[in-house]
Amino acid sequence: MTYSKKVLEHFQCPRNVGEVEGANGVGTVGNAKCGDIMQMFIRVNDEGIIEDASFKTFGCGAAVATSSMATEMIKGKSIDEALQLTNSAVVEALEGLPPAKIHCSVLAEEAVKAAIDDYMKRKNGEKRE
Ligand code: FES
Repeated sequence: MTYSKKVLEHFQCPRNVGEVEGANGVGTVGNAKCGDIMQMFIRVNDEGIIEDASFKTFGCGAAVATSSMATEMIKGKSIDEALQLTNSAVVEALEGLPPAKIHCSVLAEEAVKAAIDDYMKRKNGEKRE
């Protein structure tokens, strides 16, 4: 199993690790098979633009690399644009992943969607902070 240079680079030097200050959307997802967990944090401004995004993961190297790339890809995007982010786009940006590791990128996509969902619920007053 070989990893692209981009994957290794994002694994060794992950971007946006930790919790975004003033996050107004937080999503946590897990993969039942491998037991890995990923948490995404986003801060959305009044115009609906994701000003900042970060992640924390108890996951494998591919989970670290894909969430690092996913946070980079949604920063500065609108909520609608970020919702279009697919795991394959993340994999493509990382110049590929071994087939056995594709599910890790799905976790990153799901975590982004969960964070946006949380933001929408808070915005619509369904949830108190
Ligand atoms: Fe589970 Fe990668 S092995 S997220």
